[in-house]
Amino acid sequence: MTRETWNSKRGFIATAIGSAVGLGNIWMFPWRVGTEGGAAFLIPYIILLVSIGIVALTVEWTLGRMTKGGPVVAFEKAGLPFGKYFGILGNFTMFLVFAFYSLIIGWMIMYLSNMLFGGLSAVDAGQFLASQAFSPSMAMWQFVGIAITIFIVSKGVKRGIEKANNFMTPVLYILLILLTINSLMLPGVNEGLSFYLLPDMEKLFSPGTWMIALSQMFFSLSCLGTTMVVYGSYLKEKEDIPVSAVVTAFGDTLVAFLAGLIIFPAVFSFGFAPEAGPTLIFAILPEVFQQMPGGLYIGILFFLALLFAGITSSVSMLEVCVEAVMSKTNISRTLAAIGLGLAVFLVSLPSLLGVTLFGMPYFDFIIYISTVLIGPLGALLAALALGKIGIDKAYEHIQRGASVKIPKIWKPWAKYFYPIVVLVIYLYTLVNGG
Ligand code: PFF
Repeated sequence: MTRETWNSKRGFIATAIGSAVGLGNIWMFPWRVGTEGGAAFLIPYIILLVSIGIVALTVEWTLGRMTKGGPVVAFEKAGLPFGKYFGILGNFTMFLVFAFYSLIIGWMIMYLSNMLFGGLSAVDAGQFLASQAFSPSMAMWQFVGIAITIFIVSKGVKRGIEKANNFMTPVLYILLILLTINSLMLPGVNEGLSFYLLPDMEKLFSPGTWMIALSQMFFSLSCLGTTMVVYGSYLKEKEDIPVSAVVTAFGDTLVAFLAGLIIFPAVFSFGFAPEAGPTLIFAILPEVFQQMPGGLYIGILFFLALLFAGITSSVSMLEVCVEAVMSKTNISRTLAAIGLGLAVFLVSLPSLLGVTLFGMPYFDFIIYISTVLIGPLGALLAALALGKIGIDKAYEHIQRGASVKIPKIWKPWAKYFYPIVVLVIYLYTLVNGG
């Protein structure tokens, strides 16, 4: 069977941005900005994006395109010791990421449906405050989110994933721009803006802030050695990897930046604290919407934007697992998507039932395992795999389709600097407890 490829350059970029832009941008980024001192987080983030993030995207796409495979095939073909097993570990990570992600998508659908049918007062934001309070009724909403994801993935690369992203990604930007305009017109907008845009110098120079910014960036760009490798494997030889990497990196960051512009003026304007952490958008924001004129409509637009962002990312997670099954077995795409989607649902069920593991709520536990403990290793392995294939070969490979001359420094940067940086953050985060 010939391998599918993206239909168009525009479709590929919409899809790459679709994967990158997700809960990481609209949920996690504002929470990090809130807890890490506003602009003190934003500045390191942008510096790291330019110096590391763009290279990370080029590494993962190149690896995928050169090996024509996802992590299992790519790490194996590159000749990494235990490559195949590390690839399987990468797939397992995406499986767990999808498990916790789908729970949050369930929350979003539930909020949306409550708002549409019962108004803002039907949103029980208090429930979100305790992660134990995931109710069994939530299972149905989560299931709806998983079913939408399965549907898109089962339609295939061009007709499912690319088509959905071609629609959802531009609509997401339009919704976010409307919401930003609304926030910037709120009374007392300056307080929120100065928190967001003026750095707290002490935090700016704290290594912890830089580390958090770096792991946030890898997650946000979907660079865990999995999704972007698979997406790269569907890229035609003539496509321009470096320019696509720059557009994707900035397209992703623009959404995170807009999310901050939407949230902080609103939070300050209605007298709430920005340091609420994970509950910022699920518990605080509904209260803000309740006080805001036209808040119901703004709330619906906001959660709709979040849902679009979430689904285009969850599609990329399921695709990683589906691609792996399809490349190693004769199972069809549709069957693989349904089977894996249902398995993800089962794996996330303990969270809905309030289970705890190692003293942590199950939900926090799977986030920890997937994003802190194993996730960053995928990024590291992708860089090592490309180095093993040969950095000169890789350089020639991306240069062939590129419309710009890639600086030669890309080679030592991708081969040494980038993996060393990943290793340092990884160890730091482990020692400091994530
Ligand atoms: N980048 C997505 C976000 O910011 O929400 C999450 C994600 C998708 C992470 C795909 C990793 C991945 F492979």
